[in-house]
Amino acid sequence: MRIRKATMSTQTLPQLHWRAAIKVYDTSKKLTAEQVALITEAARMSPTSYGMQPLKLFIVSDTATKKKLRKAGYNQPQFTDASHIFIFAARTAITKEDVSAYITRIATQRNIPETKLDGFREMLLGSSAGKTVEQLHSWAAKQAYITLGMTLAIAADHKIDTTPMEGFDAQKFDTILEIQKSGFTSVVALAAGFRSKNDPYLKMAKVRKTVEEFTVKIAEK
Ligand SMILES: Cc1cc2nc3c(=O)[nH]c(=O)nc-3n(C[C@H](O)[C@H](O)[C@H](O)COP(=O)(O)O)c2cc1C
Repeated sequence: MRIRKATMSTQTLPQLHWRAAIKVYDTSKKLTAEQVALITEAARMSPTSYGMQPLKLFIVSDTATKKKLRKAGYNQPQFTDASHIFIFAARTAITKEDVSAYITRIATQRNIPETKLDGFREMLLGSSAGKTVEQLHSWAAKQAYITLGMTLAIAADHKIDTTPMEGFDAQKFDTILEIQKSGFTSVVALAAGFRSKNDPYLKMAKVRKTVEEFTVKIAEK
C-alpha cells in the first residue's frame, strides 16, 4: 500500500475539518445501534496510562434523563437534542482492588499466570500509594479526556456528529446517573447525533492557531 505523503493541505485530515462541536442537532435523526456500538468501541479501545482504564462510560438516550442532564448542563440544548449523550466517568480513587482486578484481566486475556505480573502489580501499587486522592482522581480524569478525543475523532471518521461538553455540574450529573456510590464521577460528556442545517456555527470558519504559532521545532542544526 502506498502511504500518502503528508502535506499542509487542509485535505490532509478532512474528517477534522468536517467535524465541529455541534450546537444545533437535527432532533429527528437518531444513531443506529451499530453507530452506538462503534462509539462505545472507540472509547473502550482508547489508550490509557498503564492500560488501567479507570473509567466507566454512561450512554443516555432516554428522553426524561436527557432533560435532567440539560437542566444540570446550564440548559445547553445539545443535552436533549442530540441522539445520545455519552458521559465519561472516572474513578475517584485507585484502590488495591482496582490493581488486582487489572492484574486478573491481563492474566486472563493473555493467558498467563498472575504471578508473572507480580513486578507490575508492585509498580502499580507503588505508583498509586505515593499519590493523594485528588492526584489519583486527576490522573483518572485525564484518561477520560484522552478517551473523549479518540472517540470524537473516530465518530467523525464515520460521519457521526458530536459535541465534546464539560459545561455541566458534575455532582448533579452523578446524582442523575446514580453513580455517586460506585466510586466514579462524571468528568466530561460527548453529545452525538446528526447536525441540523440551521446550526449557525457551521457557516463560520474554524478558528485555530497557525502551525507557526502552535509549534516549536527543535531539529538538527
Ligand atoms: C473538553 C471540551 C469541553 C467543551 N465543552 C463544551 C460545552 O460544554 N458546550 C459547547 O457547546 N461546546 C463545548 N466544547 C466545544 C468547543 O468550544 C469547541 O471544540 C471549540 O470551540 C473548537 O470548535 P470546533 O470543535 O467546532 O472545531 C468543548 C470542547 C472541549 C474539547
